[in-house]
Amino acid sequence: MRPKPVIAIDGPSGAGKSTVARELARALGFQFVDTGALYRTVALLADEDGVDWSHGPRLAKLVEGHEFAFDSKGILYLDGNPVGDAVRTPRMSLGASEVAQHSEVREALLVIQRVIGKDGGVVLEGRDIGTVVFPDAEIKFFLDASVLERARRRFEELLAKGRDITLDQIAREQEERDRSDRERTLSPLRKADDAIDVPCDDMTAMQVVEHMLELVKSQFSFD
Ligand code: DC
Repeated sequence: MRPKPVIAIDGPSGAGKSTVARELARALGFQFVDTGALYRTVALLADEDGVDWSHGPRLAKLVEGHEFAFDSKGILYLDGNPVGDAVRTPRMSLGASEVAQHSEVREALLVIQRVIGKDGGVVLEGRDIGTVVFPDAEIKFFLDASVLERARRRFEELLAKGRDITLDQIAREQEERDRSDRERTLSPLRKADDAIDVPCDDMTAMQVVEHMLELVKSQFSFD
């Protein structure tokens, strides 16, 4: 067993995984890893290099030609530069979901994720952390919330950023991404058999973090 656990957090988009994972990592002094940011960055790189999102082998070559690194706060750097909000657009949400369908891309990103997490002391959030990336994670959570609640949260987030978008548009896009994440052949979004269900509809992000923190502390003791 690792001296400090690997904490896997999976769930559909908009369930609040990033906020919760970041806060949980901060409370424990662990590294936070937003794995969706890796897929988003592949979609962005492809756009910049004129590579089609449907071309798995060329996308994987792109991944291999660049350096991906997370700093201690969980900010993703590409070749030494912070990736930032450029990957947080609706186009990159769509692109990430498309590039994530290719085995070559998933394999290339799997290596990066395993290197970061292998010694523990890390909170990784995504879709396949507990099932594929770290099936041996010491503790696994599956965060979920209703479609409406998830759309409402994303809507408020984007509104705060000044984006011109409607709740209905977000709900439709989210349903489409949910469908593609759950129905894809490779590493589909699925709750691991040994994951703890965390229904998030009626709890604030901080209440969810407190709940998870209690569970982690009741199972592990580390400095
Ligand atoms: O968490 P997110 O919305 O930033 O993720 C963007 C897309 O990346 C999501 O639609 C599916 C894909 N993804 C994945 O396939 N596996 C992961 N571990 C994380 C994200």
